[in-house]
Amino acid sequence: MIRIAAVGDIHLGTDCAGVVRERYAKIADEADVLLLAGDLTRLGTLEEAAVVAAELGNLAVPTVAVLGNHDHHGGVDKEIAWLLEEGGIILLEGEAMVLEVGEQRLGIAGVKGFGGGFAGACATEFGEELMKQFVRATRHSAERLADALARLEADYRVALTHFSPTDTTLTGEPVGIHAFLGSYVLGEAVDGELAGVRADLAIHGHAHRGTERGVTAGGVVVRNVAQPVIHHPYRIYCLGGSEMECATGGGEHRGVA
Ligand SMILES: [Fe+2]
Ligand SMILES: [Fe+2]
Repeated sequence: MIRIAAVGDIHLGTDCAGVVRERYAKIADEADVLLLAGDLTRLGTLEEAAVVAAELGNLAVPTVAVLGNHDHHGGVDKEIAWLLEEGGIILLEGEAMVLEVGEQRLGIAGVKGFGGGFAGACATEFGEELMKQFVRATRHSAERLADALARLEADYRVALTHFSPTDTTLTGEPVGIHAFLGSYVLGEAVDGELAGVRADLAIHGHAHRGTERGVTAGGVVVRNVAQPVIHHPYRIYCLGGSEMECATGGGEHRGVA
């Protein structure tokens, strides 16, 4: 059984330095890997990213992350990616990686993703050039996720994104902003409709007022791990056992992370 700890939207600021890491001290007892579903910072500054790296890099289990829209806000996302990787966090943006857990191989494919909406209320590649660029950006991101999933040689595949591949985890969010929280095209990637290989589990964040549990149109289990949704330092999901859900880890969430 592979135990996956996951959280998104931790939104660390410089005031979080030195107060987060202790909550992950026992993670190796509970999980084999920690997935971070983006929005690791508040305003996407290098100072905040340094705090993320110091607090969550080089834990007792591998930390694998994608960036979120907040991490892009400062216009230094490439530098943030470098800082995180220097700090021991594996950052995925269109990449795939395999972790060996005992006899099993866990494959993780990650992209930030983007918006666009869901069936009946989605943007289309029509009209103004800006609208076409918006929709193309989402499709490009979904294609990168699909290709990364298809490259994985693994027993289980997890799709890690910031934006949601389904609206079923958006319940609680105003319907009017669903198009800015995710896209059905990401769901098509997760379902294997773009490159032929589907995920076993999809993890995302971004929807602070959404719900934890959902499913794609193709039946892939989806979990929204935005910290305001899960209320804990991380949730743990298990692949390969009789139950998908395992536990909540790291104690109660106390304000930051
Ligand atoms: Fe967020
Ligand atoms: Fe976000």
